Amino acid sequence: MPIARVRGIELAYDDEGTGRGVVLLHGYPFNRSMWRRQIVELKGFCRVITPDLRGHGESQVAPSTIETMARDVEALMTALEIPNATIGGLSMGGYVALAFYRLFPLRVRELVLADTRASVDTEEGKQDRSKQKERALREGMNGIADDLLAKLFAPSTPAKHPEVVEQVRGMVVHTNPEGAAAALTAMAERDDQTTFLSRIVCSTLIICGRHDTITPLLDSELMQREIAGSKLVVIEEAGHVSNLEQPEQFNRALVGFLQQQD
Ligand code: MLT
Repeated sequence: MPIARVRGIELAYDDEGTGRGVVLLHGYPFNRSMWRRQIVELKGFCRVITPDLRGHGESQVAPSTIETMARDVEALMTALEIPNATIGGLSMGGYVALAFYRLFPLRVRELVLADTRASVDTEEGKQDRSKQKERALREGMNGIADDLLAKLFAPSTPAKHPEVVEQVRGMVVHTNPEGAAAALTAMAERDDQTTFLSRIVCSTLIICGRHDTITPLLDSELMQREIAGSKLVVIEEAGHVSNLEQPEQFNRALVGFLQQQD
């Protein structure tokens, strides 16, 4: 497993394929293994970089903000000599992708924003994160996994794709509770990026599961209205983890978008 030492921490990542750079950023509390089906599809014509964001997977746990995670990704790209790339993220990964664009627009060829949003948490949402953080630190990740799994999927996913539910449970329970706590703080304190959307000038693909209840379609429709020329693809029979629930539909959208840019 490759490890890069960047900005004082160790980041685990995968680097597969050759061609134009594509960086894919996972959600909370997941890790880079969620992109396996996308890597298989893309590595024939892209160099796909999938880091474990700080506090997740096999990367080091450290205090975190969304901006810090974006700076880690930029430092990783520098270490790997990738001047610019398509930056894509799902959910928390999408918060990081938007922050990355705000900080380093010249290093972004295209944006892919999947099951994410530009707005901040409500007060109730922040309180939920604070409770979840205490629970993770007190009990570990099993209870968090049970709560999350009840909300993540389209109604048809558990029966049709039980292996996806197990994969997601595996990622959640293997997340370090302190890493999860740091990410919860980072998400609760993140900046509102709504007013910034109209300043995005790169090609942007927005993807959302039809049944996403965590970052619902309305959030994606708002981003699509604000980002000039952006395209929105709705993934049928998918909830919040659309790339795992419906990898064929997700990959078709992603590959079609990337091929249009060449
Ligand atoms: C994620 O999937 O990254 C999280 O559900 C995002 C969030 O809680 O806002």
